[in-house]
Amino acid sequence: MTTDWTPAALSRDIPAASAAPGQLGETDLAIWRSASGRIAAWSDRCPHRGMRLSHGFVRGERLSCIYHGWGYGEGGQCVRIPAHPELTPPEAIKVPVFAAAEASGVVWVADGTPAGAPPEFPGFEGFRSLRIHAPATVLARAFGGAGHVIEGTLGPCAVVALIQPLPGNVSALHLLAPEGAGPATLDALSLAAEALRRTAEAQAEQAEEETA
Ligand code: FES
Repeated sequence: MTTDWTPAALSRDIPAASAAPGQLGETDLAIWRSASGRIAAWSDRCPHRGMRLSHGFVRGERLSCIYHGWGYGEGGQCVRIPAHPELTPPEAIKVPVFAAAEASGVVWVADGTPAGAPPEFPGFEGFRSLRIHAPATVLARAFGGAGHVIEGTLGPCAVVALIQPLPGNVSALHLLAPEGAGPATLDALSLAAEALRRTAEAQAEQAEEETA
């Protein structure tokens, strides 16, 4: 199956040896980075009893579940069951794995095989992700654009806004700032992003009231 890349997180938010929750459409993801820096996006459900793997811990190149410590290695394969250390876990115990790649400081994920590499935005790098209680279309309009990739100006500088639709009329805004922007610019950009969030959420609320 060929599919498109979806922006799901910023690289800076997932440092080495850490895991965080993410989303691909309706699917909950555990996005994690191994100690050596390899990024991965897996189903956020431990095959043992369904605990969230994004709450787990990373040791070396392995993500382990916080509940009973089952450890999963490359390709989602279970490689260790602490209660049975002598056992080689059956091949069938495997976490569903999604495509994951990084470009311009953004973690992109896909279900299936994307046609090429994820998009690059030269001169920009991932700055901040915000979760916004407004549909993607409302957020794009509040920004003064349309679609899921908007290049424009926000507050003090040029930005790239990647809008990720999430379930339940929610979206994520993954904001890319100019490379090398100074702290004062980034502080002002943060404030502008929060103002944009308030505007989009107010517009979404108003639209809901009008259709109620
Ligand atoms: S639920 Fe994950 S190890 Fe038991």
